[in-house]
Amino acid sequence: MTTWTPAQWRERPAAQQPTYPDAEHLERCMAQLRRLPPLVTSLEILTLKRHLAEAAEGKRFLLQGGDCAESFGECDSTTITNRLKVLLQMSVALVHGLKLPVVRIGRFAGQYAKPRSTDLEERNGISLPSYRGDIVNAPEFSAQARIPDPERLLRAHAHSAMTMNFVRALIDGGFADLHHPEYWDLGWVEYSPLQREYRRMVEAIGESVRFMETLAGEPIGSFSRVDFFTSHEALLLHYEEAVTRQVPRNPGWFNLSTHFPWIGMRTAALDGAHAQYCRGIQNPVGLKVGPSVSADQLLPVIDFLNPLNEPGKLTLIHRMGAAKIAVALPSLLEAVRREGRNVLWCADPMHGNTESTANGYKTRRFENIRAELEQGFDIHAAAGTRLGGVHLELTGENVTECMGGARDLTEVDLERAYKSSVDPRLNYEQSLELAMMIVHKRGRVQEEESARLRPGPGAT
Ligand code: PEP
Ligand code: CO
Repeated sequence: MTTWTPAQWRERPAAQQPTYPDAEHLERCMAQLRRLPPLVTSLEILTLKRHLAEAAEGKRFLLQGGDCAESFGECDSTTITNRLKVLLQMSVALVHGLKLPVVRIGRFAGQYAKPRSTDLEERNGISLPSYRGDIVNAPEFSAQARIPDPERLLRAHAHSAMTMNFVRALIDGGFADLHHPEYWDLGWVEYSPLQREYRRMVEAIGESVRFMETLAGEPIGSFSRVDFFTSHEALLLHYEEAVTRQVPRNPGWFNLSTHFPWIGMRTAALDGAHAQYCRGIQNPVGLKVGPSVSADQLLPVIDFLNPLNEPGKLTLIHRMGAAKIAVALPSLLEAVRREGRNVLWCADPMHGNTESTANGYKTRRFENIRAELEQGFDIHAAAGTRLGGVHLELTGENVTECMGGARDLTEVDLERAYKSSVDPRLNYEQSLELAMMIVHKRGRVQEEESARLRPGPGAT
C-alpha cells in the first residue's frame, strides 16, 4: 500500500476507457488539471466517511441521487436547483419518517463519464466511437463529435466546479433552511397525489422546529443548513488520477474532485484498473454489485478495496433487478456478515430494471423499482443485515421517462417528455413516492423485528 500511486492503475487492464488520438495532448491537459484548485476538501471527505460508518450502524440513512449523466448543456441554474429541491424534499420525508439523520449525496458535480455496452455505435451502416459522456466526446452522431477530446477533462472540471459552487452558495445562503420548506417547491407541480402527505409532514416539522426554538429561546442554527456531498462514477481514470492529491494535514491520497467516487458494475474486476485506483485513496468509495457476482468473487474485492476493514470506507450498492434480487442477494449478505466485513449496504433499484419499449424508449417500470427496493428491505431483515441507503436516478425536471407511479405513466406518456440521453430517471412525484415508500417499508420491517425480539406470552 505504501507504494501506491495515483498513476498505478495504468499497469492494469482498464475497461471502458476512450482511445485518445493524441497521447501528448492528453498529458498536457492532465498537467493543467493537476494545477487547478480542488473541488472538495480532505476534511469533508473524512466527515462523509464517518457518516457512512454511522449509516452502516443504523444511525443514519444514505440518500444518493441525481442524474444518470450530467451534461455541459444542462449545467444551468434551473436544472441544479430543481434537482436539489427534489433531493431536499425526499430527505425531509426520510428524516421525518425514519427519525434518523440523512446523509445526502448528489450524483452531480462530476457525473460526466458513462460506461457503454459497445465501443462503437452503428447507424445506417456507419460506425463511430460510442458517446462516453461529455467528459470524453459529444453525443451527436458525427465523426468529429465522437473523437475523444482531452480538453473536455478541463471543461468537465470547470462545470463540476460551477455546479459545486452554486450548490454550496444555495445551501450556505439558506436554501435548505427547515424554516422555509417553500423554497423547495417546484413551480410546475400543480397537483400531485402526494402533495397532501408531504404538506402534512412539512407542517409537523415546522411545529417541532418552532417548539424546540421556543424551548431554546433562540433560533437553532443547525435547522438552517444541511450537508450535501457529491459523487460520481470513477470511470475515466486519467481524470481521477489528475485530481488525486496529497494535502498538508491529512496523510494519504485524496480524490479532491468529489467526496464519494464509485466503481460501476462493468469496471469492478478485482484485477482491473478501477479497483487498483480506488484502493489507494482515502475517500469512501462505492462498489456496484450486480446479479452475476458470487460471494467468492465479492469477498476478495472487498478485501482489496478495504484491506484494513475500515468502517465507512466501502459502500456496496446492489443493483440486481426485481426479478433477480431474491436469488442473487441473500448469499452475498450472508457471506459478508459471516466474514465480519464492515460495509454499508445500499440499494440501487434502477439499473437492474431497465428495459426497452416497442417504440424504442429505454425505460423502467416504477412497480419494478419499488418491488426491488421492498424486497431489498425484507432480504436484509431475513439475513440479519441492514439496508442503510438508497441510490437513485432522478431529476427535478418534469419528465416522463419511467413508467408507472402515482400518475401511472404509460408507454404513450414517454413520448411527451422524454429528455434523458442515457438512463430513464424518476421524476419528482415518482421520487417522492419512493421516499414515502421507504419510510413505510422500513417502519414495517423494524416493527416485525422488534415483535420477534419481544418475549412471547409464556416468557417471564
Ligand atoms: C450508473 O450508475 O449510471 C451505472 C451505469 O450503473 P451500473 O454500473 O450499476 O450499471
Ligand atoms: Co444510469
